[in-house]
Parts: sequence; structure tokens; C-alpha cells
Amino acid sequence: MIYELSNPVVKTLVNHLRETQTDALRFRHILQELTRLLAYEALKMEKLEDHTITTWHGEQSFGFIKEEDILFVTILRAGLPMIESATALFPKASSGFLAMKRDENTHQSILYYDRIPECKDKTVIILDPMVATAGSLCDAISVIKTKSPKKIISLNIIGSPEGMAILEQKHPNVEVFISHIDEKLNEYKFIVPGLGDAGDRSYNTIESS
Ligand code: PRP
Repeated sequence: MIYELSNPVVKTLVNHLRETQTDALRFRHILQELTRLLAYEALKMEKLEDHTITTWHGEQSFGFIKEEDILFVTILRAGLPMIESATALFPKASSGFLAMKRDENTHQSILYYDRIPECKDKTVIILDPMVATAGSLCDAISVIKTKSPKKIISLNIIGSPEGMAILEQKHPNVEVFISHIDEKLNEYKFIVPGLGDAGDRSYNTIESS
């Protein structure tokens, strides 16, 4: 299932990401805002668990999302701003990390670090800003599936129609929430019009030509 958020607020934020004048601090900040909006949408139907808490009016029972059942998994490095935002929203959730690098010649993703804890009975929420060929995301999902999670959700900022089609074909049971799906992939497998490389934009590593 793929759900595209596109609404005026989300479009405005995504379009600021496209601007080359948007500096790294603002870029990461927008990724964080969009992550909150994606999480809000993705967890709209989440069941609440009643807890008795002490309020100004004495002890009362109220519903809360069971944060301990959530495991955020991010793909380094562009997903780092997203996990900061997600864990600020749900501080009791746990976190896992995968490091992947897309080979610029073959366009294949290479996994070189896996630090994902036990996933059994967890709702695993993957955080990665970009779905270009979907190679990285599909590989990350395959790794997570071997760890028997209860459910897998993916939160993404921008994608290509080609990548989304592959994702849906390979992992139809993953719930994907994405801010915006762009026009296409170009011959170098970059999203067009896109926003550049989210990792480079976030951490000022764009090489000047
Ligand atoms: C980017 C991005 C995704 C991946 C998307 O990471 O953050 O993980 O590429 O491309 P794909 O859908 O074709 O796999 P990159 O490899 O540039 O690493 P980075 O996060 O360190 O910048």
C-alpha cells in the first residue's frame, strides 16, 4: 500500500527542499517536520492503550500509543534527521540502524552495517528520505523481514514512480507513506525534478563542479 501525502503544506515544505538556497540546517529541519506529518498519518488508526496517570484532577485513565512496541529503523546517513524527529515524538520507541551506499556505477545498494535489534512483535517504521530505484529500501525491508516484525511501515519524503512500482511489486504488504512522488528517474537514476542527494544536502558534502 502506497499513500502519498501531497497536500498544500507538504508540497510547500517539499518544494523548499528543492531550492538550492535552502541550507543544511533548514534542510534537516524540513525533513524533521515532514517526518512528524508522515508519522501522524501513518499512525492515524493506531490502537491506544489505557494507562492510569496522575493528573491535576487525581488519578485517571487515558489512552496512549504503545511506544515500546515501535522500532524505528533508519538508513544512514540521509535518514538521520528523520530518526531524530521520530524519536523526539516517541521517546520510548527503540531504534535500529542500517548503513547502505548506492554504487554510483551499478546503482545497486550495498549493505555494510546492520544494527537492528530484535523485531519480534514490533511495528518497524523505516525512515529514509529518498526512494529512487527503491534498491536501498527493498534491501532494508528484506533484512527486516528476516527478523519477524509484526508489521513494517516505511516513511519517505520523495520518490520516483519507477521506484514506487518496484517497491509495491516486491513488498506489497509494507505500508508506505510518502510526502511526494516526483515525475521520473533520469538516466543516472536520480529523481527528477528531485531535491539533489538528501545526505549531501543535509551534511554539506556537495562537491562543487
Ligand atoms: C540515498 C538515499 C537512499 C538511497 C535511495 O542514499 O538516502 O537511501 O540513496 O536510492 P535508491 O532508491 O536508488 O536505492 P545514498 O546512497 O546517496 O547515501 P547517503 O544517505 O549517505 O547520502
